[in-house]
Amino acid sequence: MKHALITGITGQDGSYLAEFLLDKPDYVVHGLVRRASSFNRKRIDHITAGAQTHDRFHLHYADLSDASSLSTVVQKIKPDEIYNLGAQSHVRISFDQPIYTADTVGLGTLRLLEATRNLSQEKLVKFYQASSSEMFGSAPPPQGLETPFHPRSPYACAKLYAHWQTINYREAYNLFACTGILFNHESPRRGESFVTRKITLSAARIKEGLQDKLYLGNIEASRDWGFAGDYVRAMWMMLQQPKPDDYVIAMDETHTVREFLDIAFGMLDLDYKKYVEFDPKYMRPSEVDILHGDSSKTRRILGWKPEVDFKGLVKMMVEHDHELARREKHALAFPND
Ligand code: NAP
Ligand code: GDD
Repeated sequence: MKHALITGITGQDGSYLAEFLLDKPDYVVHGLVRRASSFNRKRIDHITAGAQTHDRFHLHYADLSDASSLSTVVQKIKPDEIYNLGAQSHVRISFDQPIYTADTVGLGTLRLLEATRNLSQEKLVKFYQASSSEMFGSAPPPQGLETPFHPRSPYACAKLYAHWQTINYREAYNLFACTGILFNHESPRRGESFVTRKITLSAARIKEGLQDKLYLGNIEASRDWGFAGDYVRAMWMMLQQPKPDDYVIAMDETHTVREFLDIAFGMLDLDYKKYVEFDPKYMRPSEVDILHGDSSKTRRILGWKPEVDFKGLVKMMVEHDHELARREKHALAFPND
């Protein structure tokens, strides 16, 4: 059996990656979880409860800010593959909490790399770092492996630090360490404060009469949005290559937030212009105007291609959130059901 350790298993990508690996009969999946005052494991509850995967799915308490906990877990599990997905991943919040973000995203990665380096003296261990298209920042599109970075947020600076540390561990210690520079990827499990999910949840609640308005910041920003389920498959493919390397994963097309709004509201026969209002609190001190990936080299090498297109992604999210809104409405009308 192969043992995989995932940091960030309670997040969007961690939950999809755990499912993807557990679908393979030869994987045992270990996830890092942090203590919280209330349970925040709704994305992985179904895996914990699944009888078939019960013996192949284990959670361990640790934190990217706590080197000793990381080292203890890595030494206990001795994983074959480590996927470092844990992060304070919200760009706007990184302006409010720059030091915490740098600590978790930047130094957290370094702490995990150190634990991995120690283990690599005993056995082959493969490391995946969740790098981000946000590192390209204001670099002109399309952005690919040759594009120089120009980060525009504390989050992006921290990710860039982690990115280069990962490459340095590969060069200095011969670690099997890969970076995946992933463009935005979404799903029905996307955090509610990221713009796509905020839009699909709000559109569905407006449709059901549960909400009147949707407040947003810069809707002219443009992103290269794909489906998270497709992107976690690419992470695994990177670690199955004969040599470690850096990769870009993207749809290679870009859409504005305004376009996303138009399509999502349109799917519910609503005109977004009647409901969307501007709120400056969602603006960022420095914005990334346009992300548009060039994943051609990666696609050639990995043979990866996405299965869900942009419209399919929006539809999947709208349908999911419409069902949630319908249930919410039903629960309000029939509280004793
Ligand atoms: P997410 O939903 O925000 O999940 C983040 C995960 O990190 C959660 O499980 C969270 O745990 C965990 N975490 C946060 N702080 C931690 C700490 N100090 N120690 C240990 N775990 C911690 O993020 P995602 O969308 O799945 O993204 C996964 C990774 O890919 C992140 O590193 C993100 O920055 C990167 N990335 C994402 C995208 C994208 O478009 N989604 C694109 C490029 C790169 P709790 O549940 O306990 O908070
Ligand atoms: N979150 C949010 N909320 N964004 C808004 C809003 C709003 O109310 N209104 C407009 N936007 C704009 C943001 O200014 C940004 O230009 C765009 O919508 C996308 O914002 P997010 O969905 O928060 O994603 P992001 O692009 O900043 O960051 C995500 O993608 C990165 C990869 O490029 C995150 O998942 C990062 O963790 C990831 O690295």
